[in-house]
Amino acid sequence: MASHEEQFKKLIAHAKEYGFIFPSSEIYDGLAAVYDYGQYGVELKNNIRQYWWKSMVQMHENVVGLDSAIFMHPTIWKASGHVDAFSDPLIDNKDSKKRYRVDVMLEDYCAKIEDKINKEVEKAAKRFGDSFDKEQFVTTNPRVLEYRQKIENTLQRMNKNLTENNLSDLKTLIEELEIACPVSGTRNWTDIRHFNLMFSTQIGSLAEDANTVYLRPETAQGIFVNFLNVQKTSRMKIPFGIAQTGKAFRNEIVARQFVFRMREFEQMEMQFFVRPGTEMEWYEYWKQSRIEWHKSLGIPAEKFRFHDHEKLAHYANAAVDIQFEFMFGFRELEGIHSRTDYDLAQHQEFSGKKMQYFDPDLNESYVPYVVETSIGLDRMCLAMLSHAYNEEVLEDGSTRVVMKFPPVLAPYKIAILPLVKKDGMPEKAREIMSLLQHDFMCQYDEKDAIGRRYRRQDAIGTPFCITVDTQTMEDNTVTIRYRDTMQQERIAISEIANVARKNL
Ligand code: GAP
Repeated sequence: MASHEEQFKKLIAHAKEYGFIFPSSEIYDGLAAVYDYGQYGVELKNNIRQYWWKSMVQMHENVVGLDSAIFMHPTIWKASGHVDAFSDPLIDNKDSKKRYRVDVMLEDYCAKIEDKINKEVEKAAKRFGDSFDKEQFVTTNPRVLEYRQKIENTLQRMNKNLTENNLSDLKTLIEELEIACPVSGTRNWTDIRHFNLMFSTQIGSLAEDANTVYLRPETAQGIFVNFLNVQKTSRMKIPFGIAQTGKAFRNEIVARQFVFRMREFEQMEMQFFVRPGTEMEWYEYWKQSRIEWHKSLGIPAEKFRFHDHEKLAHYANAAVDIQFEFMFGFRELEGIHSRTDYDLAQHQEFSGKKMQYFDPDLNESYVPYVVETSIGLDRMCLAMLSHAYNEEVLEDGSTRVVMKFPPVLAPYKIAILPLVKKDGMPEKAREIMSLLQHDFMCQYDEKDAIGRRYRRQDAIGTPFCITVDTQTMEDNTVTIRYRDTMQQERIAISEIANVARKNL
């Protein structure tokens, strides 16, 4: 079996070959950590966005949408804390001149120890056979316990140092763990420095410093500064939420793992405004609601886990990640944060405008507390691509790559294939296409043998293939082939939409 790394390389190659995701500016050798979505990628992305929007806005009477601008007044980023505190701790290797994010470096170190634990478990499972009790082994085996302790100590010390901004002890930790640069192999490190992640540019005349604006590093601030505009014009009563999707930009230093960490990416965020003191209730509500959303797509539950933040962002009093098991391990897919009244109170102070809500039930005004859900759209695309990618050996010994997307997210839903290019079959297939294409993304394909056409549809994850054959010309029935099982059945043309809808 291919290693996870090889699998991941294959997925990236597949995404490019089949028009999901291309490296940006490829003919100029690309631009690091920036990607373009091709014809299937854009459909997948749109479907995820729509599935999120429906669940957050359409299905919640008390959540409304917003589309705020990317450029905002620069003081917003001062007020939000991003100018002073939105930075990563970086270290350079003096020999390779490579720059690394210290927290990522230490987390990678821990991930390697985690791999060692997994190897111990595998070895023991082989040794003990059926009588192997994994739970007992990992809680009692001295070597595993030692590894676990090492991970815990490392992460604890890292988080303490990050919280206290103790960069010198952070460097001592790297030295004590004898972490070497993967490129030069040496431990010749510079001191650790902070590096702000925001991109800046100028509005108007280049020369005037006062005209510096930032590309937003999160969509959330557009929601905060419009909180009263939306509340007043929608006559929303607390608790209520504002949702938006849109681009965000971060000058990520460790930009890698394909679309997992990009410099230009898209977020889907929702700020839920609540009465102070009720925020933990709503935090729990949204935590559950969001994990249910992920599971509703039919992805196995064990692919997800919650991970509480040990080091809280400057605005949060509680935070949890929903992690997904990507091909490179469990990583953050979505964050749920209890942001207190930090942002609104800061904007009130910096703008001099009241950011208060009059609560008619309490007959008093207050600055609401906020619970946020924030998921990266590109990261969700990667999660779905990773989940969907399957290589299967078929009964006849041949192989197929099939993208088993949840049908509701599949780029194209139905492929319409005339068996041969004659005897009226193409015309009949076009007729069926025009019946269905108002409601479903459909693709017509008449080129090559039917088997190859099925493979092409498998590779882009189309859940249903409709084949028009001789019998169709006689009785208006077609075969419908299901992507995952490859089973086929005969149904009437008039039934195609119902069958598809039921499965979607
Ligand atoms: N408003 C809160 C916020 O922005 P975050 O944890 O920094 O919180 C939220 O980001 C989500 O945005 C993450 O869970 C991730 O899915 C996505 N995200 C963050 N940085 C990203 C990047 N560089 N590339 C792709 N997605 C990213």
